Amino acid sequence: MGTTLLTERDGAVAVLTLNRPDKLNALNAELVGELDAAFAELSRDTSLACAIVTGAGDKAFAAGADIAAMLDMTTEQARAFSEAGHRIGWRIEHAPFPVIAAVNGFAFGGGCELALACDFIYVSEKAKLGQPEVNLGIIPGFGGTQRLARRVGIGRARELCYTGDTIDATEAVRIGLANAVVPHADLLPKVKEVAGKIASKGRIAVAQCKRVMYAGADTTLDIANAHEIQAFAMLFGTADRREGMKAFVEKRKPAFTGQ
Ligand code: COA
Repeated sequence: MGTTLLTERDGAVAVLTLNRPDKLNALNAELVGELDAAFAELSRDTSLACAIVTGAGDKAFAAGADIAAMLDMTTEQARAFSEAGHRIGWRIEHAPFPVIAAVNGFAFGGGCELALACDFIYVSEKAKLGQPEVNLGIIPGFGGTQRLARRVGIGRARELCYTGDTIDATEAVRIGLANAVVPHADLLPKVKEVAGKIASKGRIAVAQCKRVMYAGADTTLDIANAHEIQAFAMLFGTADRREGMKAFVEKRKPAFTGQ
C-alpha cells in the first residue's frame, strides 16, 4: 500500500485524496497506479454510493502529470503512461457510482483531465484549471483533448488546449467546466453534502442513471433512448423501486436498501 493516495470512508461515501502536497499532487506512476487500484477495488464494493476525489494541502488538486518523471521518458514509456492515465478515466466512468471532483486549487494537465473524468466538478475560489501541455511541447495525454470538448464544447476546448491558457474558478463555472464555485474552506463539506444526498437515493437507480447517460453520450439518439428504456424497465424489478413508490404513496421517507 503506497502513500500517494489516501482513501477514507464516510458511510457510503469514499474520499480519495491525492497526496503529494510538496509536489502539488503531481501525478507520477505511483499515484496513477494507486488511483487505478483504488477505483478497481471501490467498483467491486456494492455498499459504496458515491466517491469524491480531492487534493492534499491547500494549493493543488493536481498540478499535472509529474514533469520531472516525464523528462526522460521514451516514446514507449510515454504510451504506457498515457494508457495508465486513460485506464483511470475508464474506471471512473464505468464505476457503478458517481465520482465528484472537489478541485481545491491547481488542476492543470493530468489534474484537469482527472477532474474531467469525474461525473462533475465543484471548485474552490482558489481553483485554477487548464491544459498547459503545449508549453512543454506535448498534448494532453489522459483524455483532455476529448473530454474537455465533451464538457465545454469544441471551440472553448480547442482554445484552451492550443493556447495552454489557464482559467480561474468563476470562468470554469461560466463555461460549464465546473458546476459550482464554493469558498475554499467550504469545498469538501459542500461536496460531501452533495455526495450524501446522492447516497440517500436508490443506489441501483443512480448507478443505472450514470451508466445510461455515459452509454448514450457517444451514440445515436435512437440507441441512447433504447439504453434508457431498458434500464427504466429493469429498475421495476428492484426492491428500491417498490420502496420508493410505496413510501411516496404512504407519505413517508423511503428506506432504500440498494437491492
Ligand atoms: N510535475 C512535477 N513537479 C511539479 C509539478 C508537475 N506538474 N507541478 C509542480 N511541481 C513541483 C515543483 O517542481 C516544486 O517542487 P520543488 O519544491 O521540489 O522544486 C513544487 O511542486 C511546488 O511547485 P512550484 O512551482 O514551486 O509552486 P508555484 O506555486 O510557484 O507554482 C504552478 C505553481 C502550478 C504554477 C507551477 O508549479 C507549474 O507551472 N506547474 C506545472 C504545471 C503544468 O505544466 N502542468 C501540466 C503538466 S503535463
